[in-house]
Amino acid sequence: MVGAFQVSHQTQRRARLPLSPSLFPFFLLLCETSFVAKSDTKEMQRLDKCVAHLTGLSRQGATKLIKEGAVTVAGVVITDAKTKVSLSMPLVIAGFSSDSEDSPEAQGERMVTAADAFKKRVYILNKPYGYVCSSRDKNHSVVSSLWRQELHPERLQAVGRLDVDTTGLLLVTDDGALNHELTSPKKNVAKLYVARLDRPVPESAVAAFAAGIKHPEESQRYQSAKLLILPENAAPATEQVLAPAAAAASPAEIASTESSPTYWAAVTVYEGRFHEVKRLFEVVGCEVLELVRVALGALTLPATLFLGQMQLLSKEQWRRALESHDFTTDEVVALITAYQDSLQSSAPMYLPPAWMQLVLGVGATAATAATAAAASEVDAEDAADDAEDDVQQDASLTDIDEQDDLVDADEADDAADAADAEADFDELDEDGELRIY
Ligand code: URA
Repeated sequence: MVGAFQVSHQTQRRARLPLSPSLFPFFLLLCETSFVAKSDTKEMQRLDKCVAHLTGLSRQGATKLIKEGAVTVAGVVITDAKTKVSLSMPLVIAGFSSDSEDSPEAQGERMVTAADAFKKRVYILNKPYGYVCSSRDKNHSVVSSLWRQELHPERLQAVGRLDVDTTGLLLVTDDGALNHELTSPKKNVAKLYVARLDRPVPESAVAAFAAGIKHPEESQRYQSAKLLILPENAAPATEQVLAPAAAAASPAEIASTESSPTYWAAVTVYEGRFHEVKRLFEVVGCEVLELVRVALGALTLPATLFLGQMQLLSKEQWRRALESHDFTTDEVVALITAYQDSLQSSAPMYLPPAWMQLVLGVGATAATAATAAAASEVDAEDAADDAEDDVQQDASLTDIDEQDDLVDADEADDAADAADAEADFDELDEDGELRIY
């Protein structure tokens, strides 16, 4: 998985650039700004904080790196970690790169600005079966275990929720405002699901979905949804795609699964209510056997994204989620086919056949157990790192100025970060309705 900044401690190279005459104006600017910085916490940030954000190191680790002379700001090696720098300052951190795809020559040489340390991220994730979108769960793996390798994983949140047995497109971001925008029912972001059903969907369901379904157990009618019934056998059942021999309980069942037709439909919903798609189909007499989200607005699940993988999106890419697109039958079939093709390379996270789900419980496969074990190890490391950071911060509270800094800027920031990480954006909407997204 590609983090925003990759750490390669072994290959760290120290970039001690001499202060050339041409860089002197920058140096003056830096000196000047570091004295006026205290009141302007938006434009100015402490160097150790920028370096910690950019590299994923603890504040203590960042301070050590700075003291060693590995950090160059506007062409000048700065060794005082407390120096305040303008966010527009060009920064080079020896041994760190903004892109792991960089050539070895470029690794450790890339120039960024301090502002990059605070840039918000949006990822697209191909959610596997058996993972829950809540932050904690006793019985299942949590989706956040899939981004533990990313920089500052605790700041990332899933954008809305998918059921434990729903797979496909899930956005993940550390941008709380964007998360809210994408999940707010008022924004009407179109969510395109492809469902495999236990029987043919009646033609009359198209008009019923468009008119707004009333579920007998719900007080509020569902908003209009667009239903597209796909041709019979438009795609095989996913179990057949993944592991034909292991998917069914017995040879007789394998034979019957392979020969029985599959019924698929695509539905676009705008609300994102709890179990919405399953409930809509329930009202027209169909049971959802598989559910894959393949698009949000005009943003589609990339065919190259394997199950459990995530990919950083550019603003241009994620903004497509806010655009509308009317998917044709051919486009939907292409999306589900591409999704199933991508599963071929995602074997360790394959959809468990029904008998295995019964024996092991959903998501309790060897792969998910391994992920959970790895996750708890990382948890312990993170906690140790945080404690280290706290000790370091306490130790550095040696004068009033320093205390002011931490209280005014860093602690407020850290508190905001923690609040962001804690916030559960999608549990209840403004009307108190449980939303799944
Ligand atoms: N509707 C559902 O029923 N489940 C999901 O996961 C998403 C939408």
